[in-house]
Amino acid sequence: MERTLMMIKPDAVAAGHSGAILAHVEKAGFKIVGMKKLHLSQAQAEAFYAVHRERKFFGELVEFMTEGPIVAACLQAEGAVKLWRDVMGATNPAEAGEGTIRKLYGTDIGRNATHGSDSAENAAIESAFFFSGLELVG
Ligand code: RTP
Ligand code: MG
Repeated sequence: MERTLMMIKPDAVAAGHSGAILAHVEKAGFKIVGMKKLHLSQAQAEAFYAVHRERKFFGELVEFMTEGPIVAACLQAEGAVKLWRDVMGATNPAEAGEGTIRKLYGTDIGRNATHGSDSAENAAIESAFFFSGLELVG
């Protein structure tokens, strides 16, 4: 079994889409092994997205991710990393497939409703960012 780290981003939480997005999670067959709602500080958002530090959209990304609360969850399934990225759809909602979360709930490439880890290795790092081992119930 593999794990991935997902977030419902501030746009989708504020729009009241958390429940609908969690329904996609369960319908896709994931077990939610940990979940919490929190409001990231600027330092926390900068640390989470540190790999994108040099990108021109970094400031905009940090501003967006701190504008309101997020929901973070650790999800478990066979091939969880790829499965979750398939359920989310492409980064840019305009390019995301029909029925995907970003197509349904995203606005544009910046405000795209959800996050998903891009590898099992990063999933472990990102899960540890939000959850202690005691908070993950397999
Ligand atoms: P994520 O990490 O949030 O799951 O998204 P991703 O892998 O599909 O995309 P990534 O390249 O890691 O980018 C991280 C987030 O940065 C914002 N972004 N804005 N304005 C832009 O050109 C731009 N490009 C990326 C998005 O919120 C993207 O999800
Ligand atoms: Mg990414």
